[in-house]
Amino acid sequence: MSIKLGVLISGSGTNLQAIIDRIADGTIDASIELVVSSRSDAYGLLRAQAAGIQTLTMDKSFYDEDFTADRIIASEMRSRGVDYILMAGYMRMVHDPLLAAFPNRIVNIHPALLPSFKGAHGIQDAYNYGVKVTGVTVHFADNRYDCGPIIAQRALAVQEGWTVDELEAEIHKIEHVLYPEVVGLLAAGRVHVCDNGTVEIAPA
Ligand code: GAR
Repeated sequence: MSIKLGVLISGSGTNLQAIIDRIADGTIDASIELVVSSRSDAYGLLRAQAAGIQTLTMDKSFYDEDFTADRIIASEMRSRGVDYILMAGYMRMVHDPLLAAFPNRIVNIHPALLPSFKGAHGIQDAYNYGVKVTGVTVHFADNRYDCGPIIAQRALAVQEGWTVDELEAEIHKIEHVLYPEVVGLLAAGRVHVCDNGTVEIAPA
């Protein structure tokens, strides 16, 4: 089943690019209908445009409060028949107008093993804490920052002597594999949120 995606970004968009590439090479049966950025200078907007994807910038100067922005995003996504919204380095929370329009259909990627090291600096915070294992989490978003039912996690052993930049490079490598994998699971209809708030992945 081919699914329609919307993607929310704020920055460089390397995760967006990984998904664009896996769609282009036929690994994922999906299309990206719209990329929304919370910043007009996000490099990810150029990646989207280079791939021929429609973009929309919801910069702070365009709206006066977050709920207004989320209402506009919900209506733009709905009008394009979007099935799932992917947050890919989107440094804002999603709010009720968007969550209610896409219940259990908004996905986020976070560069740490949630529920540890939430926030905008997950890699640096895990590094500073001195954890020996960290990783990447992909989860359904709720109205709290970096919270919601976990779909997939991949762990990474932190090697002695790594700089934070080396850790970051390894985390990004995992992200660029794991996020497309999860999109593939969504496209295959294998991801189910249980009544207790956990996620089950149906066998292939
Ligand atoms: C990614 O590492 C993503 O996990 C992180 O922002 C980066 C965006 O990179 N997200 C969070 O920290 C969410 N709390 P990208 O713009 O190159 O995809």
